[in-house]
Amino acid sequence: MTHDLTQARARHEDAPKGLAERAVLDPHRPRFHFTAPGGWLNDPNGLAHWDGVYHLFYQYNPLAAAHHRIHWGHATSRDLVSWTDEPVALVPGSEGPDRDGCWSGVLVDDAGTPTLVYSGRHGERELPCVATGSPDLRSWRKDPANPVIAAPPEGDLTAFRDHCVWRENGTWRHLVGSGIRGVGGTAFLYESEDLRDWRYVGPLLTGDASSGTAADLDWTGTMWECVDLFRIDGADILAFSAWDEGTTHYPLYWTGRYEGDTFTPDALHRLDYGQRYFYAPQSTRDARGRRVMFGWLQEGRDKDAIAAAGWCGVMSLPRVVTLGADGQLAQAPVPELARLRRDAVRTGAFTMADGTHVGLDDVSGDQLDIETTLRIAPGGSARLVVRESADGSERTVIEVSRAADGITGTLSLHRETSSLDPSVDSEPRYGELPLTGDGAVDLRVLIDHSALEIFANGRALAARIYPTRPDALGVGIRAAGIVAVERFDAWRMAALFDGPRPLWP
Ligand code: FRU
Repeated sequence: MTHDLTQARARHEDAPKGLAERAVLDPHRPRFHFTAPGGWLNDPNGLAHWDGVYHLFYQYNPLAAAHHRIHWGHATSRDLVSWTDEPVALVPGSEGPDRDGCWSGVLVDDAGTPTLVYSGRHGERELPCVATGSPDLRSWRKDPANPVIAAPPEGDLTAFRDHCVWRENGTWRHLVGSGIRGVGGTAFLYESEDLRDWRYVGPLLTGDASSGTAADLDWTGTMWECVDLFRIDGADILAFSAWDEGTTHYPLYWTGRYEGDTFTPDALHRLDYGQRYFYAPQSTRDARGRRVMFGWLQEGRDKDAIAAAGWCGVMSLPRVVTLGADGQLAQAPVPELARLRRDAVRTGAFTMADGTHVGLDDVSGDQLDIETTLRIAPGGSARLVVRESADGSERTVIEVSRAADGITGTLSLHRETSSLDPSVDSEPRYGELPLTGDGAVDLRVLIDHSALEIFANGRALAARIYPTRPDALGVGIRAAGIVAVERFDAWRMAALFDGPRPLWP
């Protein structure tokens, strides 16, 4: 490992200078979401609340804003709000099973020894590897026995990577994400006494790949990335990122029952309507007993724009996940984020007539937290407009609508006019919005430059937007049908980092 680190540092010295310096100049770079100092970031890894400190590791390439020879970056926090960059935790070996990348994995407590289980990549193959950490989790030693599983189970598999590891009745259990070609995505279950010697048990659950596209509500893809099994308020949840030969990506979860060596599903749900904009989530239970989840907010701009920016990939805000009254997951940003709020604006309650528009002149910006409760008449909708330029040529619209039946609703994000740049992704996003009899919608919108996270009655929708106009800062509401705005509170959010950070702390 020391040898690998020395070599990696030497390569880093040869890297193009200025990634971190360029990154901070980019107007699209979020300021209160966690981002890597520069270069590439993807999945959250090794999430843990260890001795009072939250550890967030992540898929990182400090050499370029491109997915190549992935390292594990590392940051710590005491409050889930501000983050300290820690030394890079894992670097691909100069030889061995992870010479082409240290892919996603988890951190477990092995009788006091912090232990990482991750996917070592070599060529087109990924195999499970283990590394043990110093008590402060700052330096890591790869196990000489890596890879700890020499080959995937027999069969024609689409992939074999990413890990969920837990201790149960004195034994380690371990899921590895995979897919059986022609059948569907799956998670293979293993067992071990020591995290090194693994016995294959069988597939925990296998999906059905025959349903066509992500538009189908029963679609689960051909491979399950980043499987995450947890129990919440008595319900078992199997979360995974459905992938299908590289074209579609969607974070999904099954509710059901995990018993013995199988998971019996009740129902399949969408974890975030932003699809690939909240990808590869991982969660942990913190010392307060909360289920805290992060996901990777991918870019919606092209490779050239990313290379010019010098950085890419945003970590979502940490979310608390609970079980809603409807048996589905309810998500909300952790309450600690309120510490970043500044300059509160509260409009008080008002009612909007059909077809009216209210411009909220006191609430403008590209770094905002907005909380509102809207009551919508059956058949009506409210459109919250954000990042609107003075001439209206750029605007992003978040729409909550209530069907004529009064009890079904839709949450939509319209990005067609978010940016005058024709090269950025402008596809809309939408999903079902649960409503109660009075048609109330608790809507929370966090705007952080290109990162947008929306929460409506517990459902989540994350995405990226890239307005080009410096004056695309306006906020307003439009009503179709009568909309009662019961509260509307907004804050400017403080920035987490100032100035460039070392790419290789
Ligand atoms: C998900 C993923 C994982 C893999 C990692 C590689 O985004 O593809 O399956 O381990 O990213 O960086």
